[in-house]
Amino acid sequence: MILLTGGAGYIGSHVAVALLDAGLDVVVLDNLSNSSPASLRRVQSICGRPVAFRQVDIRDEEAVYDALKTYGVTAVIHLAGLKAVGESNQQPLNYYDNNVLGSMRLLSAMQRAAVKTIVFSSSATVYGAPSYLPLNEEHALAPTNPYGRTKLFIEEMLRDLHAADGDWRIGVLRYFNPVGAHESGYIGENPLGIPNNLLPFIAQVAVGRREKLTVWGCDYPTPDGTGVRDFVHVCDLAAGHLRILKHLKAPGLLTVNLGTGEGSSVLQVIQTFEAVSGRAVPYEMGERRNGDVAVCYADPILAKNVMGWKSTRSLMQMCADHWRWQSRNPTGYSA
Ligand code: NAD
Ligand code: WQD
Repeated sequence: MILLTGGAGYIGSHVAVALLDAGLDVVVLDNLSNSSPASLRRVQSICGRPVAFRQVDIRDEEAVYDALKTYGVTAVIHLAGLKAVGESNQQPLNYYDNNVLGSMRLLSAMQRAAVKTIVFSSSATVYGAPSYLPLNEEHALAPTNPYGRTKLFIEEMLRDLHAADGDWRIGVLRYFNPVGAHESGYIGENPLGIPNNLLPFIAQVAVGRREKLTVWGCDYPTPDGTGVRDFVHVCDLAAGHLRILKHLKAPGLLTVNLGTGEGSSVLQVIQTFEAVSGRAVPYEMGERRNGDVAVCYADPILAKNVMGWKSTRSLMQMCADHWRWQSRNPTGYSA
C-alpha cells in the first residue's frame, strides 16, 4: 500500500492514476486546503479501482501514524504542500509551518511506524537563478523565495536523515514546469482564484473565463524576448514516481530532475495552445514579473541513466490534454 500525501491535488491525482494502473493500492491523506475530493472520485472512475482517503493534515503526526499502521503502508509519496511563490513572500511562516513542519511530522510518524521509503516532490525552484544551462543536479542550490527555501530545507532534512540511518530509501524529484492533464479529460489542474502559472491562465482565457493574458516581459535575451521554461507533461511526471519507487528497492538516496530538457517560450506556448484548441488567446505585453528568470530548463540525463525515465509527450500534446480537461470542465471540479 502506497500512501500519497496531497493526493487529491493536481499532480497527486495523476500519480494516483499511475499507481492504480500499475496494480498498486493507494491511500491518500490530504487536508483539502487546495483541492476537492471530487478529483479522487474521478481517479476511481478512470481506473475502476478504489482509492482510500482520509482528510488529514500532515502536521497531525498521530493521524499520519494511524494511517500508516492501519493501511499497512510500505512507501510514502509526499506531495502535500503549499506552492504559490507570491503567497510565500507574504506568508513565510505559514509556508514553513505547512511545508517544513508538516514534512518533519510526516517523517517522524514514518520513523515510528518503521516505514522508511519516501519520494518527495521537490522543485527546480531549489536551484534559483541558473548560473549555467541546462540545469543538472550538481548545480548550486540557492532558492530566491520562501516557497523554494521550504523545498530546500526539506531536501536537507532528508539528506540528514539518510546520513543518520542508512536504511532509508529516499527519492527526491525536482519537477520543472508540470502542465497538461490525463488524456481522459476527467482530472486536471484546478487552481482556486487567479492562476499564477502560465498554462492554467492560458486555458482560462481560451475557455472564456478571463479576458486576456499578460505576458510578463518581452525583452528577455531569448529568441522572441519572452521567458523560456521546461514544460513537462504531468503524466510523464507521474510515471517518474513509479520509476523511482522501483529504483528504491534498495536503501539509498537519489535526487533527480524531471524535465524534458527542452525550453519553450511563453509565445510558443500561446501559439501551440491556440493551434490545438482552435481558440484565440488574446494577450498583452507587460513588465517582467519580479523574481522571474529568462531561461530555465533541465538536464534530464540522470533520470534516464539511473532509473530509465524520460519524458515522452510533446508540447502539443501537453496543450491538447490541458485543453481537453479545461474545455470539458470549464469551472474545474465545481461543475
Ligand atoms: P496542489 O496544490 O494541487 O496539491 C497539493 C495538495 O496538498 C493539495 O491537495 C492540498 O490540499 C494538499 N495539502 C497542502 N498542505 C497540506 C497539509 N498540511 N496536509 C495535507 N495536505 C495538504 O499542488 P500540485 O501542483 O499538485 O503540487 C504537488 C507538489 O508538487 C507540491 O509539493 C508542490 O510544491 C510540488 N511542485 C509543484 C509544481 C507545480 O508547478 N505544480 C512544481 C514543482 C513542485
Ligand atoms: C512560466 C513563464 C512567466 C503567467 C513556477 C514556480 C516554480 C514551480 C513551477 C513549484 C514565465 C510567464 C506566467 C502569466 C506569463 N512551482 N507567465 N503570464 O515561474 O517558471 O515556475 O511554477 O515548484 O517554483 O516559480 O512558472 O507558469 O508561473 O511561468 O507571462 O500570467 O510564463 O513570466 O516566464 P515558473 P509560471
